[in-house]
Amino acid sequence: MITFKLNGRDVSIDVPEDTPLLWALRDDLDLTGTKFGCGVGQCGACTVLVGGRATRSCITPMSSIEGADITTIEGLDPQGQHPVQEAWRDIQVPQCGYCQSGQIMQAVSLLRDYPDPTDEEIDGVMGGSLCRCMTYVRIRKAIKKAAAALRAQTSGKETTHG
Ligand code: FES
Ligand code: FES
Repeated sequence: MITFKLNGRDVSIDVPEDTPLLWALRDDLDLTGTKFGCGVGQCGACTVLVGGRATRSCITPMSSIEGADITTIEGLDPQGQHPVQEAWRDIQVPQCGYCQSGQIMQAVSLLRDYPDPTDEEIDGVMGGSLCRCMTYVRIRKAIKKAAAALRAQTSGKETTHG
């Protein structure tokens, strides 16, 4: 039995330890927002947050997940209104949509490290997240919009508390 936190709730599942997190999420926990692309850590479609960091779930065995804190696209915000999701909607980033949950999770992780990212920083972090529909220009734009919204949120909180 492997026990961990998933989207803020404690869960325990009985799966072989070498099961990739991706398949535990999709097949055992019915969270199908996380997608299968390449299965070998190369495309980013399966990206989730583990302890707040972007992680490729297709190459993450369940044995490494005991006690971890995992967030999937379903758990990013109860109403789907995380600033990154809002920016994605405003800029109308997705085309077919298949890669986009992975792109969003990668972007959330990026913005933790780079609250005001340059084009180079965005390309450096997002470069491994592939999109067959070539939505890269809109992704970059949406990340900048989300970054501004997150910074405004943070300075609002500081003003309120300070
Ligand atoms: S499916 Fe995991 S990186 Fe491609
Ligand atoms: S939107 Fe189609 S693969 Fe990215």
